[in-house]
Amino acid sequence: MLISEAKLEELKAAAKQVSQHAYCPYSGFAVGAAVLTTSGKIFAGCNVENASYGLTICAERNAVFQAIASSGECEIIAVIIYTSTPTPSLPCGACRQVVKEFGRDAQIFSFCDGEEVLEMAIKELLPNSFSGEDINNV
Ligand code: THU
Repeated sequence: MLISEAKLEELKAAAKQVSQHAYCPYSGFAVGAAVLTTSGKIFAGCNVENASYGLTICAERNAVFQAIASSGECEIIAVIIYTSTPTPSLPCGACRQVVKEFGRDAQIFSFCDGEEVLEMAIKELLPNSFSGEDINNV
C-alpha cells in the first residue's frame, strides 16, 4: 500500500517526538518508532531500558504493542523509526519478527539527523521467517 507524503511526515513527527520519552540511561541511544495501521491511525513507542538489561523493550515493539493495546488493531502498513544519529538504524531481529506478525507487507522507513533515509520491506529484512502457519502444521 502506498503512503502519502503527508502521512509519512506525520509518522516521522510522531517517531521523533516519542524518541524524547525514551528511557535509555544505560545505552544513551534513544529510539522513537511510529506505526501506521490499516485504518490510518498512528501509534508511537520509544525504547524503555532496565537495569536488568535483557528486560529492555525496543521502540518498534513498544509502538506495535501500543497499537494493539489501545485500539485492538493489528494490521500494520508501515513502521517509521527515528534515531538522533548521523545515519539511520534498522530494527533488531526481535522487532522484525514482531512487525512481521502484524504486517507481512509492512514498509519500514528509518530516518535520523542526517540526510539519509532508509526504506525497506519487512519481507526484505526478514525473509523466510517463522510464522503462525508453521505452528498450524503440527
Ligand atoms: N533499540 C531499539 O529501540 N530498537 C532497535 O531495533 C534496536 C535497539 C534500543 C534498545 C536499547 O534500549 C538501545 O536501543 C541500545 O540497544
